[in-house]
Amino acid sequence: ASQAEEKDLVIIGGGVAGYVAAIKAGQEGMKVACIEKRGALGGTCLNVGCIPSKSLLNNSHIYHQILHDTKPRGIEVGDVKLNLAQLMKAKDTSVTGLTKGIEFLFKKNGVEYIKGTGTFADEHTVNVELNDGGETSVVGKNIIIATGSEATPFPGLEIDEKRVITSTGALSLQKVPESMVVIGGGIIGLEMGSVWSRLGAKVTVVEFLDQIGGPGMDTEISKMSQKILKKQGINFKLGTKVVSGDTSGDKIKLQLDAAKGGKEETIDADVVLVAIGRRPYTAGLGLDKIGVDVDERGRVVIDSEYRTNKPHIRCIGDVTFGPMLAHKAEEEAVAAIEYLKKGYGHVNYAAIPSVMYTHPEVAWVGQSEQDLKKDNIKYRVGTFPFSANSRAKTNLDTEGMVKMLADPETDRLLGVHIVGPNAGEMIAEATLALEYGASSEDIARTCHAHPTLAEAFKEAAMATYAKAIHY
Ligand code: FAD
Ligand code: NAI
Repeated sequence: ASQAEEKDLVIIGGGVAGYVAAIKAGQEGMKVACIEKRGALGGTCLNVGCIPSKSLLNNSHIYHQILHDTKPRGIEVGDVKLNLAQLMKAKDTSVTGLTKGIEFLFKKNGVEYIKGTGTFADEHTVNVELNDGGETSVVGKNIIIATGSEATPFPGLEIDEKRVITSTGALSLQKVPESMVVIGGGIIGLEMGSVWSRLGAKVTVVEFLDQIGGPGMDTEISKMSQKILKKQGINFKLGTKVVSGDTSGDKIKLQLDAAKGGKEETIDADVVLVAIGRRPYTAGLGLDKIGVDVDERGRVVIDSEYRTNKPHIRCIGDVTFGPMLAHKAEEEAVAAIEYLKKGYGHVNYAAIPSVMYTHPEVAWVGQSEQDLKKDNIKYRVGTFPFSANSRAKTNLDTEGMVKMLADPETDRLLGVHIVGPNAGEMIAEATLALEYGASSEDIARTCHAHPTLAEAFKEAAMATYAKAIHY
């Protein structure tokens, strides 16, 4: 091994958490190295998560729309054919462009990029098994763990990424399966289920709970979204648990059990997508060797300044507490470097938006109606349907609504929940309003351009304390 070199900061993991921390540290003038084993920067998000899934979602939506939604628009099309290889190539091009872009930003900000697998040798030294062979080690005054997460496996169903797949396999299937069963109706299940359903697979989503969308989605919005997805051809079995699977035959057989209201039965599938959540990834890191604490779910335990029980070792992103979202990881990365450099930093966990990129999108921020009920918090509701929004009407894309929750006494915004076209963009406005402690009246009295979808947002705000004009 070559001689260990001391850095101000060593970061293990070059995903969104790690690479953003590295760039920020470089900007702050720190001597920083980032270790990444994948051979490309950007982590799960850029390589096998956010970015490739959004590419497939966008292009499968266009394909599906051309097949089913052109006539009423006055567009007659001839033969429409799917070129799956090209669809995948377009995805790969977006991914490569973005991951290479981060390498450029590393250079620009003086970050040393070490391609290999990092393991703690002691509290300050990380040994790296280099991807190209050989070993090196780096010593850090400070270290950040940003090793991310991995798909939670389903006991008894071995993942081969061909027939039994995680999201990673779902991003690169080489042909459209006739039938696909998705275990878990959370965000991954619904996004990837949408992609393959649009491309022609018969998709069935089996969800243990009695609502889709995973944790946090407002129940009313979840029901509305499910109804729309069902119309698009996705079949749902809610309140139903997959208990076991058999992959020995031509078709995979899954045994289902009633959880709440569902029924016992066996179903067949050509491909099974396991999407039952993700878990923190710390394999091979050597945390036990240096005595860094993890909790019962494997999450690295941190304090409010992202410090582990070894204060010079911090931890951010999916591998620690909080929602497993790229933008949450990014906020934590900036805050962690600010804590290191300046002694203060901040992430407002009450204002982190969530977006499900189906069509229409579902997006929310703040508390849901069921959260408020559970905590006995009084609230007022204002809603506005896209069917009454002029832009949605001109776009012939009117499904969904904006729902706003506000404090009945102060009118302060408590939560915003949207199912509808471009909900993922619109939620930025809601997040800003929440961050600034806006009231629903503040939003309603802000002039919004006409005709835009955002007017539905303004009118839902109006409906929270008075009446909407157009509904
Ligand atoms: P990761 O991105 O997992 O990065 C960790 C990196 O550390 C990995 O590249 C890994 O190779 C590396 N690593 C691990 N151990 C070592 C080691 N010992 N040595 C060296 N390197 C190591 N979030 C959103 O906000 N929006 C979305 O649209 C979205 N879509 C998603 C779609 C899918 C299919 C999936 C799976 C996830 C999606 N997510 C999305 C979640 C998002 O990808 C994660 O929240 C985000 O990637 C977390 O960033 P991270 O840096 O904490 O971890
Ligand atoms: P999830 O936690 O969102 O959903 C998993 C679902 O599986 C839950 O609803 C759960 O009840 C269900 N389930 C668990 N065991 C089951 C069983 N045996 N039978 C039937 N259902 C079962 O997890 P998911 O969808 O795997 O996604 C993981 C994380 O990745 C998300 O929580 C999110 O943080 C991130 N992600 C974010 C995206 C975005 O922001 N657009 C896109 C994709 C992933």
